[in-house]
Amino acid sequence: AAQPEIYKGLAGVPVDYTAISKVDPASNSLLYRGYPVQDLAGAVTFEEVAYLLWHGELPDDEQLAEFEQFERAHRALDHVVKKVIDELPLTAHPMDVIRTAASVIAARDPEVADDSADAELRKAKRLFAAFPAVVAYDQRRRRGLELVEPRDDLGYSANFLFMTFDEAPELEVVDAFDVSMILYAEHSFNASTFTARVITSTLSDLGSAVVGAIGALKGPLHGGANEAVMHTFAEIGTAEAVGPWLDAALAEKRKIMGFGHRVYKHGDSRVPTMKLALDQLVAHYDRPDVLDLYDALANEFIARKGIYPNLDYPSGPAYNLIGFDTDQFTPIFVASRVVGWTAHIMEQRASNALIRPLSVYDGVERREVPAREPV
Ligand code: CMC
Repeated sequence: AAQPEIYKGLAGVPVDYTAISKVDPASNSLLYRGYPVQDLAGAVTFEEVAYLLWHGELPDDEQLAEFEQFERAHRALDHVVKKVIDELPLTAHPMDVIRTAASVIAARDPEVADDSADAELRKAKRLFAAFPAVVAYDQRRRRGLELVEPRDDLGYSANFLFMTFDEAPELEVVDAFDVSMILYAEHSFNASTFTARVITSTLSDLGSAVVGAIGALKGPLHGGANEAVMHTFAEIGTAEAVGPWLDAALAEKRKIMGFGHRVYKHGDSRVPTMKLALDQLVAHYDRPDVLDLYDALANEFIARKGIYPNLDYPSGPAYNLIGFDTDQFTPIFVASRVVGWTAHIMEQRASNALIRPLSVYDGVERREVPAREPV
């Protein structure tokens, strides 16, 4: 019999409809609920984008005020979550920490047993509000520093930076960070979002789906790439070293982190916007040297392979300039992408079909269990 066709990695296979975002590689564009992401960045806040992704429309003043009030009321690190984090060894990666924290937050949610659509949305918003404290506190405890309580007179991004660095952040830094959060928030059926949808498709709960999604995001082929970009820069050292370094890396068939994309083959639509935010940070911190290596590697790799940077390429050095530890970059991605994940979880629930593909067996043919001598 003819072998059925295999769609390895589900590449190019549409598996469902979504009204949340449109990735269009042909026009190199990304729309959130119809709005081009580069138009949202800088025009509205990350909180407004989160509201848009969940509710389908940008909030009016009253809706925004209500959402901001809710978010600000749920920012503090829960004492049990703090205790659990304190028990985790520093050898555990920050992604292990935020994955564990997400599980504890979800299990301690006041509406944990209510899986109605309204309750699930509130759970999503509580996770969204709680993650910055997890990232900030984990970075601080690794530096031997105390927890910083949130400030409810600051917006999401400003407060995130305040809790991490214990000083009021400057406006340009907040703006650049907010842009990165907007760009990371949603990207259709990427691996972690699909993971969340698979878990949801069994009618499991939102917390389980978010925890699974964090696991999928951790890998260097997905979210882990923003961290890996910094390791690559450290390994290369200087712009002059790019050529020989690339010769060796390509000879070893290494993947160059922060380049390439499953969907975009001619450049990631989010990169120009994030590059502007990086430029803003470079100017703010007066670190033009950062761009030497950045440009050298990008130009050289594009020239040689025709493979373009993805969002993780500019966001890695941006987070480094702001002062985040390299291993916190992917947890920051979690704090943003939880919006997309939970929007998809709710969409999946609303028109659910169990996600259960087929496999084609290519193992040993049917055989007899060997007879054993009775003992
Ligand atoms: N470095 C070197 N070669 C690459 C790279 C890269 N970054 N990306 C693609 N290629 C080559 C690949 O080796 C293959 O070559 P060949 O046909 O000779 O075997 C060809 O390009 C096609 O690549 P592929 O791996 O089959 O494509 P894919 O769609 O499976 O992979 C990807 C997409 C993102 C996994 C891959 O580009 C990659 O590993 N990139 C590095 C990791 C990375 O930056 N990930 C972040 C992804 S985007 C944002 C996010 O999710 O965080």
